[in-house]
Formats: sequence, structure tokens, C-alpha cells
Amino acid sequence: MSETPDTGSLAAEVRMLARERDAVIFAHNYQRPEVQDVADVVGDSLELARRAAASDASAIVLAGVRFMAETAKILAPEKTVLLPRLDAGCPMADMITAPQLAYWKAEHPGVPVVMYVNSSAEVKALTDVCCTSANAVAVVRSLGAPQVLFGPDRNLGRWIGSQLPEVEMILWDGCCPVHDAVTFERVAEAKDAHPDALVIAHPECLPEVSAAADAVLSTSQMLRLAAASDADEFIVVTEEGLLHGLKKAAPGKRFYPLAPSMVCPNMKRTRLEDVRDALLDDARAIVVPDEVADAARASLQRMTEIG
Ligand code: 13P
Ligand code: SF4
Repeated sequence: MSETPDTGSLAAEVRMLARERDAVIFAHNYQRPEVQDVADVVGDSLELARRAAASDASAIVLAGVRFMAETAKILAPEKTVLLPRLDAGCPMADMITAPQLAYWKAEHPGVPVVMYVNSSAEVKALTDVCCTSANAVAVVRSLGAPQVLFGPDRNLGRWIGSQLPEVEMILWDGCCPVHDAVTFERVAEAKDAHPDALVIAHPECLPEVSAAADAVLSTSQMLRLAAASDADEFIVVTEEGLLHGLKKAAPGKRFYPLAPSMVCPNMKRTRLEDVRDALLDDARAIVVPDEVADAARASLQRMTEIG
């Protein structure tokens, strides 16, 4: 029986295989630390989408969840996009289907549709412009419309509405199970325990949680704020994988996860072994049918151009 390789030799094997395949490795900020550390690019959804569109590698390994790999494939159709765990989905993305969106649009003729990037390729194909947590407010503002259909995340939609009171946000009733489970009381307890800490929260949180935060930001915006801020302590109201990046971005500062900590089981599926195995062949290549990809591309390209 062969021995299980240690993390260092596995990481070296991954880097060698990536070189041989002319592949770049992208990891989302919530990935396991060893997966983040082996990646060429670690980022939020918007950064990963932009980097996929700009990459000149033959293949992209997307260590994240399915909608991120589909987004990369749609924006870079000539590249092979590999998702190390084909079973890594996003429950929120499954909360609205294309037939449901088509029906909803028909009920609101003429109202522009903005969909969070955490959605399927088929849903994006029916969307005017996608957004991520990093540019959601800017995307909706850019439309200059009095009403917007927004989904699937009602919490992000409410956050946008709080920033743009002139826009009526018509919301789909979806959410992220990880962020939506955080209560105001849990945040209040953390603030009592750490009164000098800044509260940084993701806009997928409930409105009362976002309202209690000092800053509501995408994951990479949190990394930048932690590095740039005068504050030394932060209460981190997002998935616990971000703590790895926060400690690297701002060594010496203190970061407090909520208790119990927030874990996205789908983001945690990907292990270094899966990244290695993805590079061995095309078995984990993402396929988006041409007619879906062609219809979805414009909404994603607009997304990458805003904010
Ligand atoms: P970011 O784009 O802010 O990294 O968020 C992605 C996500 O899935 C949050 O749950
Ligand atoms: Fe989806 Fe929530 Fe996991 Fe992000 S944290 S991938 S929104 S389930």
C-alpha cells in the first residue's frame, strides 16, 4: 500500500502537474488553507471571474463551487475549466431555476433582471446583468431603473435596497444557509466579548446583522480592509475559510470568528488530492452547452466591467 503523501509533497506534485498542463489554479477565499496556498490566484467571485477572462493558460482549475467554474467557462469558452469536486455546489444557486425566473419575468414585464453570480448558467442566460457581493450596489445603480428584479439572495437584495433607497428591489426568496443562520444576538455577544473589534460582515447576512456591522463587504474587500485599517481586532461574520487569508493579509492583527464558526460544507469538499486528480485528465471538466453559454455571456461580461 502506498503512503499518503504529506501536504508539502502533494502541493509540489500539484504545482508540477499544473506546469505540465499549462494550467492556472484559482481558489476562492473560503477554500481550505492548503488549497489556497497552492493556488496561483486566491480571490472573491468577482476577482476569479475577471482573472478567468484575462488568463492566457490552456486550463483553469477552479477550486471553489460549481457556479464559479461555470462562470469561468462562460467567460473563457476556449479553455478547459476543471472543478476538482463536481459535487461542490451552492445551495443558494439552486434556489431559483430558469423556468421559475422566466415565469417571474413574465409577471414583471420591462423590469430589468439582476442576478447574483451565485446562480446557474441557465438562470444567467435569462439575466440582464449579473453581480457579485463586491459590485452589487454599483451594478444596480448603473441601471438607473426605478425597479429591479433581484435574486436569488434576498439578504443581498435588501442590502442593495438599503444603499439605494430610490430603487424598488423586487426580491426572490433565496438565501445562503451559512450566512442566513447568523443571528443578531450572536453578533451582539461577540461585540460584548470584543468591544474594540470592528465587525466585518458579508452582505449575504440577515439585514439586522448587516446593520450591526461596521463594514459590509465581499470576501476580498474584507482582506483589503483588514490590511489597511487602523483597527487591530475584527469580528469576522463570514465563512471561516477567510481567516486564513486575513491572517496572511494582516499578520499580527486579531480575527474572531463567530461561535460556532461558519462553515460552508460545499467549499470544504475540495482537498489537495482533488486538485491533483483534477489535473490528471479532463474527467472534471465543466461543460456549459453553447446555447446557454452564449446567452449568459453578456450578463457576466457586464458584471466584470462594473465596480
Ligand atoms: P465573495 O464573492 O464575496 O467571495 O462571496 C462568494 C460567496 O459564495 C459568499 O458566500
Ligand atoms: Fe453558497 Fe453560502 Fe457556500 Fe457561498 S457560503 S458557496 S453562498 S452556500
